[in-house]
Amino acid sequence: MQKILFVCLGNICRSPLAEGIMLHLKEKHGLPLEIDSAGTAHYHIGEAPDHRTIANAAKNGVDLSKLRARQFQVSDFEDFDRIYVMDTSNYRNVLSISDQKQHHAKVRFLLDVVFPNQNKEVPDPYYGSEKDFEAAFQLVYNACEALRLSLV
Ligand code: 4NP
Repeated sequence: MQKILFVCLGNICRSPLAEGIMLHLKEKHGLPLEIDSAGTAHYHIGEAPDHRTIANAAKNGVDLSKLRARQFQVSDFEDFDRIYVMDTSNYRNVLSISDQKQHHAKVRFLLDVVFPNQNKEVPDPYYGSEKDFEAAFQLVYNACEALRLSLV
């Protein structure tokens, strides 16, 4: 059973989107995965994903309504096999929480699954428009689909 954690800043836009898409793919393909998401910040702990993220994902057939935000914690390095971050700031924040090499080795950029070693970011749609939420969905969906295929 692979344990995968997705991380962004607020845990209300990009990482719950990745969690919901991966849960959707898990159900569709019967994958032996444990999936969760977290934010490096504490602003939105306990909240549902942003209503625009929920609406856009629903339009694309993915339900995020039951997810709730939590903050990334040091025990996540032990509890998960892989930790996928959305951007450089998340990457630095996550690494700064531990100085152990085996912890750091679990942390990757999500889009590196599609664009290896490029450290590309999933742009934060929080201050954007519907177009930005749709772009985030497509980027994250393609990365999760590639991740699923890489796990087989
Ligand atoms: P996320 O987006 O990191 O993709 O969840 C954000 C959500 C909230 C805030 C920033 C980014 N915020 O500043 O509250």
